[in-house]
Amino acid sequence: MRKPAPAGHAIHELLANRWSPRAFSTRLPSKETLATLFEAARWAPSAYNEQPWRFIVATKEDPEAYGKVLACLVEANQAWAASAPVLAILVTKKTFTRNGKANGYAAHDGGLALENLMLQAVAEGMFAHAMSGFDPDRVRETFDVPDDYSPTTALALGYGGDPEQLEGDYRAMEVAPRERLPLTELVFSGTWGRTSPLVGD
Ligand SMILES: Cc1cc2nc3c(=O)[nH]c(=O)nc-3n(C[C@H](O)[C@H](O)[C@H](O)COP(=O)(O)O)c2cc1C
Repeated sequence: MRKPAPAGHAIHELLANRWSPRAFSTRLPSKETLATLFEAARWAPSAYNEQPWRFIVATKEDPEAYGKVLACLVEANQAWAASAPVLAILVTKKTFTRNGKANGYAAHDGGLALENLMLQAVAEGMFAHAMSGFDPDRVRETFDVPDDYSPTTALALGYGGDPEQLEGDYRAMEVAPRERLPLTELVFSGTWGRTSPLVGD
């Protein structure tokens, strides 16, 4: 299903067409397509080019590995994410490799990699839905994640499905209009809270 952003200014179609569906088709992306998504993530910018992102990924082709990731999601997310043919977890490295100091931008840069992946997914006709609703300790234990790394965001990936396959509230949310704060509340000039004339009247 397409659900383009009703943007007030024309934005690139990749950005407009990215959204977070909960209904996925059973179609499995090819190995090459999935590699392309992670390649897109690989080329994200990061502080000191640290590249703090790592991904744990599982497809339904390997039900045991898939089940291990699914079990890390909270129940509310399992309810819909189980329809996605691919699940992944972004894990970020907490310290800089160059000096061992804390990397305060690890999650930020992981997010940049995730958005790269999401936009590449749209380019491939797919969707990626990020989730904070998962148990990081369970990820750590299940996958032997080292102490220096932090499970940051889970991800459901695949081709779009039919909203009718969702239950109750999720079905309504799937077709609800997309909403954002107005630009006038986001972009300031001169002092905090004063709308920039660049985006205001
Ligand atoms: C870091 C992050 C965590 C999220 N966690 C969840 C989640 O646990 N469950 C869920 O259904 N959606 C989750 N979402 C999806 C957001 O609700 C969604 O991106 C937001 O409502 C905007 O909708 P859009 O992505 O369709 O534009 C998450 C998104 C992000 C970026």
